[in-house]
Amino acid sequence: MTQPISDLLARRRPGYALEQAFYTDPEIFRADMDTIFYRDWLFVAPACELPKSGSYITHQVGDYGVIIVRGADGEIRAFHNACRHRGSILCKAARGNAPKLVCPYHQWTYELDGRLLWAREMGDDFDAGQHGLKPVHCRELQGLLYICLAQDAPDFDAFADAARPYLEVHDLSEAKVAHETSIIEQGNWKLVWENNRECYHCGGNHPGLCRSFTDDPTITGIEDGVTPPRLQAHFDRLEGQGYPSQFRMSQDMQYRLARMPLLPGAKSFTMDLQPAVTKWLGRVRDEAAGTLLKYHYPTTWNHFLPDHSIVFRVTPLTPTTTEVTTKWLVHKDAVEGVDYDLQRLTEVWIATNDEDRQVVEDNQKGINSPAYEPGPYSPIHETGVMGFVDWYCNTMTRRLDPVAVAAE
Ligand code: FES
Ligand SMILES: [Fe+2]
Repeated sequence: MTQPISDLLARRRPGYALEQAFYTDPEIFRADMDTIFYRDWLFVAPACELPKSGSYITHQVGDYGVIIVRGADGEIRAFHNACRHRGSILCKAARGNAPKLVCPYHQWTYELDGRLLWAREMGDDFDAGQHGLKPVHCRELQGLLYICLAQDAPDFDAFADAARPYLEVHDLSEAKVAHETSIIEQGNWKLVWENNRECYHCGGNHPGLCRSFTDDPTITGIEDGVTPPRLQAHFDRLEGQGYPSQFRMSQDMQYRLARMPLLPGAKSFTMDLQPAVTKWLGRVRDEAAGTLLKYHYPTTWNHFLPDHSIVFRVTPLTPTTTEVTTKWLVHKDAVEGVDYDLQRLTEVWIATNDEDRQVVEDNQKGINSPAYEPGPYSPIHETGVMGFVDWYCNTMTRRLDPVAVAAE
């Protein structure tokens, strides 16, 4: 890259797509990881994946491997997945259950709370207390697990306080993962988000999703703060029943919450528009409640419906590849084949994800051309994309400026 990132950010044309380098350049990708993914709170998994003491999952974010494990005391903690002896990776599986964490190299053995329990023949002056696993910040928010790789994590409480009441009624502690997919999209992580943040593309690309989900920009794109009266009536009706619904977005646009109506008659994301699960997850007892939309940059968007919930996780892999993981959550007592049919539950979003993968990859291919020139966003349909790009540029600009960082 010939130009410093800060110059590229400074000359950005608001309301327009970003320049090519933001979607292709290895140095900018490195800066995205250092400045955003290694510093912000990242959604990793629903807590129901760690049902008992010793349950663990692992997750890779750029150069960092992380273990998330439930301790004997029930607490969920996160650690760097590297042994304190000579650094070997500790847990190699994506998930598992272990009474202790044992390094495969020389069998140093750690408690589930990270303390080093046993290290063979390390000499008399070896202090096990100095060699516990390095912790990673970890918070549980109503059954959703977030981690932060930074030494000093940014505030989590403002987001948690805002999101908690919306999520509470969905009882995610009662959930189980009915199905999970991970797809690799050949596109920069920002293109994955830009695509997610508008429904300008929905009509032309998502025949299944469009049966239930509206692409009306006055519903999907109220980031500009104007709530149409019929949408406000929907919020008011649901809030009156005790289901927090009102549109709410943080000032810096990092997160947004709103319970949006589906199309008339649609009760869930199914091809027949009926609920996908008969034993519902959560306490929202209104079939017309629609979907609680939550996004939290840079890693997650979610749908919480009366009958089930869907969580998505975005993980950048290279400048032009991104992993998108989707998990369908149902009530833990719901029985496949009895309370839900797995294909019916998952088919709309499996198809939608693949359709989104295709448009993101097409987008990346066009941007790769030297002839690419950033074009304008639609002020009607793409206010959400502008919000994302503004959040990204503002966050990068602020954090790359040492004066601003020092003042924080
Ligand atoms: S590197 Fe883990 S025990 Fe040696
Ligand atoms: Fe889409």
